[in-house]
Amino acid sequence: MNKQKFQELTIAILSDSASEEENSIHSQALQNEDWAQDVYEDTCHTHNLLTQTFRTLSDQPAIAPTNTSKEQMVKLFEMMDKQSPLRGSAIADKETYADLVSKLDKLPTLPIILDAISKALNDEHANVIKIEELLNGDQSLTSSVLRLANSARYGLPHKVFSLHQAISLMGFDEVQQIVVTASVISFMDKANDFFSLNNFWRHSIGVANATCVVANELGVSDDYILYTTALLHDIGKLGNLLLDTKGYLQIIQQSLDTKLPLHQLEIEEVFPEHTRMGEAICEHWGLPKMISQAIRYHHEPDINKRPPLPEEVNHTIDCIYLADILIRQNHFGHSGNAEEPEIDEGLLKRLDIHTIRLEQIKADINDSLNQVHGLLDILPEEYGAA
Ligand SMILES: [Fe+2]
Ligand SMILES: [Fe+2]
Repeated sequence: MNKQKFQELTIAILSDSASEEENSIHSQALQNEDWAQDVYEDTCHTHNLLTQTFRTLSDQPAIAPTNTSKEQMVKLFEMMDKQSPLRGSAIADKETYADLVSKLDKLPTLPIILDAISKALNDEHANVIKIEELLNGDQSLTSSVLRLANSARYGLPHKVFSLHQAISLMGFDEVQQIVVTASVISFMDKANDFFSLNNFWRHSIGVANATCVVANELGVSDDYILYTTALLHDIGKLGNLLLDTKGYLQIIQQSLDTKLPLHQLEIEEVFPEHTRMGEAICEHWGLPKMISQAIRYHHEPDINKRPPLPEEVNHTIDCIYLADILIRQNHFGHSGNAEEPEIDEGLLKRLDIHTIRLEQIKADINDSLNQVHGLLDILPEEYGAA
């Protein structure tokens, strides 16, 4: 028996789908082949990462123990065999990150429609007909907007069937948020055949909404760029997962075991930092510089440890940093970072956020999260969106 066949048998056994005969062939190989024990242990470890660790990101067993999942699991193992381990690769400069991102052949280009729609929405002459024309070009976006219009959030007495009705009902601002969120999630979803990252997107949508709440409280203007930056703040984690699924799941598991911050573990384990990976991905997409800059420093509360940045970028970083912590304290979704988060005292002082003001921000975030359930409808139904 070769190693690959043995690995497949092991997967079948772990997925509870092996026949008696397969079980006995497996145990014979385990006794007779000198490499079998190592392959067995390695397969169990990887299987565990995929079925257990992945649960934090996906909100449900990533792969249910059924026969079909065995095939899925075999495909996942095949995919991971083709990946190169990222751990230990000393990645210090921007070029290396850009290089890694260019290897992400599964990373789709940002949909042109996202750009077109946001321009149209920001155009003062935009009208319902024009938006409708643009959206009609994208079936999944259209159905997301309709699904949201028909969700409990709007409590309509009758069903909305046309975009025209939906847009006039929700208004441009609302449509803009839906379009950005749905575009990002649906196109990232196309980036892989296996991942269902419901919990990860919950975290991202939560942070995007909380960032707007914090911005309002601090008097920072909350706009399309701010919302998009916050929605994409952890996109580098997806890059890491697509490049080295097993390696990154191990780091996530380490964070779950030790409660250490994921970004600290990335550095300790000499793994690409998700902040820098996110920066490189946004640059690759040609997004405005302020988006990639803010993503790069979203875990740095100390303004003196950031390079000199335009004031608006620093404001964006402050809002996202704070929103990220408050959303994690709220246990809204999960992005793989299991640190018990504490807000940096220096940041609170610098922004003049005293206890009462902080409590107000938390209360406002709770209100906004209650409203956000409609946006979560955007997550594909089969992923069990809330
Ligand atoms: Fe992060
Ligand atoms: Fe985050």
